[in-house]
Amino acid sequence: MRHFTFPDTVCPKQTMSNVGVAILILGLSASIAVGVHAGERAPEDIYTESCAVCHGVAGEGAMPGIPDLTEPNGSLSKPEVDLVRSIVNGVERPGLETPMPPSGLDENTVKAVLVYLRAMAAQSR
Ligand code: HEC
Repeated sequence: MRHFTFPDTVCPKQTMSNVGVAILILGLSASIAVGVHAGERAPEDIYTESCAVCHGVAGEGAMPGIPDLTEPNGSLSKPEVDLVRSIVNGVERPGLETPMPPSGLDENTVKAVLVYLRAMAAQSR
């Protein structure tokens, strides 16, 4: 049986292809890292980027027709399932000046944003 041994001299062509593979692997792991990071946005970042434009930096509502989420008996006192459904699917009904668009977030992410929202709303009371 013949054991595999590395050649004493590596020809330039082989060195090049090794470098190529290394760059490919580096590139792949970099893009995976970016993907994971994007999927793990912190709830406060999601709120700031996707919600604050309508709901205001502290949930107080940034324009007419937006409920004040800091109200003790306001929207946030509704059952969690209703709030999650509203945020996942959006809210659109007759008479609503600015409908809430579907967030495009999955249920668990929405729940995490709600935890953040409740804490923030409680603080600004
Ligand atoms: C384009 C403006 C807009 C954006 C962006 C927006 N909302 Fe809303 N949101 C609304 C409006 C308008 C309502 C009130 C709907 C109603 O009166 O039934 C609402 C209602 C809510 C409610 C109460 C839901 C209920 O069932 O009463 C919560 C909680 C909420 N939004 C959270 C969020 C979160 C979290 C985000 C970001 C992921 C977000 N909103 C993004 C406009 C927006």
